[in-house]
Amino acid sequence: MILTVTPNPSLDRTYEVPALDRGEVVRATGERLDPGGKGVNVSRAVSAAGVATLAVLPLGGVPGELVATLLRDQGIVAVPVPVAGHTRSNISVAEPDGTLTKINAPGPELSADEAESLLTAVAAGSQDADWVACCGSLPRGLAPSWYAALAARAHEAGARIALDTSGPALLAALAERPDVVKPNAEELAEAVGRPLSTVGDAVKAAEELRERGARAVLASLGADGQLLVDATGLHFGSAPVGTVRSNVGAGDASLAGFLAAGGTGPQALAAAVAHGAAAVQLPGSVMPTPADLVPDAVTVTSEVPLDRALMEPAA
Ligand SMILES: Nc1ncnc2c1ncn2[C@@H]1O[C@H](COP(=O)(O)OP(=O)(O)OP(=O)(O)O)[C@@H](O)[C@H]1O
Ligand SMILES: [Mg+2]
Repeated sequence: MILTVTPNPSLDRTYEVPALDRGEVVRATGERLDPGGKGVNVSRAVSAAGVATLAVLPLGGVPGELVATLLRDQGIVAVPVPVAGHTRSNISVAEPDGTLTKINAPGPELSADEAESLLTAVAAGSQDADWVACCGSLPRGLAPSWYAALAARAHEAGARIALDTSGPALLAALAERPDVVKPNAEELAEAVGRPLSTVGDAVKAAEELRERGARAVLASLGADGQLLVDATGLHFGSAPVGTVRSNVGAGDASLAGFLAAGGTGPQALAAAVAHGAAAVQLPGSVMPTPADLVPDAVTVTSEVPLDRALMEPAA
């Protein structure tokens, strides 16, 4: 079972509009409502892959109730931790040319008691989990060390930890030896404090995260593919992609594919790449199902093209 934690979930409302004209009344031609958050995305994709999953998340107010209902409708088993603040609502405005404008709210501030309840709920669920996936940014009220505390508790319960976050929360959690961390290129560059312009730069940065405590690093490099650096060595995976419809959530889909395939080694990397490639060909943050995957199109090699310039360098 793969448990996901989404400390700052959202109610995501997407409007399709002919054009986004500032200062005008814009009439939407379509509207959808989704439970949002990176752990929620991972649970959705893991579930589609046929693996059991549990989504732990703080929920509050009427928007929180709606998120719980939408998760239930989608067949995702959730453990809501009640909080006094209201779950945030994020707005996306999608135009026909693919332009997506997003307005993200900060989300409620969690009290010390609520932060502890969330930790306790994860620790309890970790008893039955193979993996605990810690996904996304921390809301106000959770210290940057919160994921580190969670990793310690989940490790004690016998689960492995996957960490997909950035900045101080990522750096603080490395000390607890997460089993895999999944930065994208920008997050990796920020973590090591230098830009990445080649695949080799990304490899060096990933190795540095391992020296600082990560047991494995799955670095997603957007259009440039993915790297897996672990104790057994180095692997590079990529797959050709036709038209990119939306890269939002492609990293979440990749992490889900990786964990659902066992969470270690080159065959899990291949699953991550297959999920990433499928996700970018789907609209919004829609997660791929097995029918969307083209595993034969994925190449994984231990002969990593270190000198290759990144098409999407990270500053
Ligand atoms: N433009 C693209 N062309 C081809 N594949 C892509 C592209 N963007 C993403 N991918 C695939 O999806 C994977 C994950 O993408 P990316 O590195 O952008 O994740 P991310 O920034 O963590 O995304 P998110 O946090 O929104 O889920 C990539 O490693 C790659 O396999
Ligand atoms: Mg990401």
